[in-house]
Amino acid sequence: MIRCIIVGYGFLGKRLARALASGRIRDLKLVGIASSKGYVHNERGLSSEELPESIYQSKDFREGSASELIDGRAADLLVELTPTNIEDGEPGLSHIRQALAQGMDVVTANKGPIALAYEELMDLAEENDCMLLYEATVGGGMPLISLQRRCLAADDLLSVKGILNGTTNYILSRMHFEGMTLDLALKEAQMLGIAERDPTLDLEGIDTALKIVILANSLMKAGKKLSDVKVRGITKITSEAITAAKESGMAIKLIGVASEDELSVAPRLIKLSDPLCVHGTLNAVSFNLRILGNLTIIGEGAGESTISALLNDIHEVVKTRTRFNRFKRGC
Ligand SMILES: NC(=O)c1ccc[n+]([C@@H]2O[C@H](COP(=O)([O-])OP(=O)(O)OC[C@H]3O[C@@H](n4cnc5c(N)ncnc54)[C@H](OP(=O)(O)O)[C@@H]3O)[C@@H](O)[C@H]2O)c1
Repeated sequence: MIRCIIVGYGFLGKRLARALASGRIRDLKLVGIASSKGYVHNERGLSSEELPESIYQSKDFREGSASELIDGRAADLLVELTPTNIEDGEPGLSHIRQALAQGMDVVTANKGPIALAYEELMDLAEENDCMLLYEATVGGGMPLISLQRRCLAADDLLSVKGILNGTTNYILSRMHFEGMTLDLALKEAQMLGIAERDPTLDLEGIDTALKIVILANSLMKAGKKLSDVKVRGITKITSEAITAAKESGMAIKLIGVASEDELSVAPRLIKLSDPLCVHGTLNAVSFNLRILGNLTIIGEGAGESTISALLNDIHEVVKTRTRFNRFKRGC
């Protein structure tokens, strides 16, 4: 039985905990959950009924840091779901380093550590014979990283480009179809919970740039940093520019590109008939491969759909470890 802890009990952590505690993944039990001020731990496993709305309400709540829970060797798998920090990747980066260094596998949706320290973390995982999976950091539930690794690895990936931020795509779509100004579309997105109260990272293209770095480093072994991405967001897009694009059968979309000679995020004109030209909160990503040509994937890039990517990564860890343990026992 694989013992799992979740660090970060917010939007994703709560939904994932419910899925795991209800037994969605066989051979896995959820034994601990941490938030910013403390944690709960139960080595028998937490059941759905024992999951509180906030862990601070739990009778088993202990004040302390997540690193105490990770350090306690109480688990085989860490799911790291603390907020993305683009300055230094913390606290997620330390949690992931600590877990890998003591031989735990890690699954995460946290873009900061993977975008800022991909090579260091991958080396650490390899040295300690651990798995580090991060499908949920890019494109919500869209299986971009596993698709390339499992189905396209023998081909050459020449470029990846696409719409990787649902908030900006929603705003640009409302401007395109309803003639709204950027300010009004942003206010509507905030009211609907599609945009954060501080939407800077989305509007300035930084969120897309983080995802482009992750794709470039993990799929193209590019060894790039966030500062290598040329970034322009959507804040200067006017209603007039949107109307002019529309009149010529195009739409303005915030497009991230990773290729051998380009790493960029910028608003671009896209033909309405292009498969990348999706609207609302949808994301779309096109792989250009030497043999296959173009392959486009479309899906919800955040929210509940991200749980699917997390569950698949967790399933991969459990499948690999249980097969390995059976092999060691000679079964
Ligand atoms: N939401 C999505 O759709 C989505 C999609 C893809 C990727 N992601 C990424 O996934 C991660 C989690 O997203 P989310 O939406 O679930 O975030 P969230 O709702 O803001 O939850 C973050 C959680 O992390 C906890 N936390 C903060 N500092 C901590 C620390 N030092 N130690 C332990 N826990 C700490 C918070 O605890 P308190 O409650 O005590 O403050 C909170 O429970 C983020 O990195 C995000 O960028 C999110």
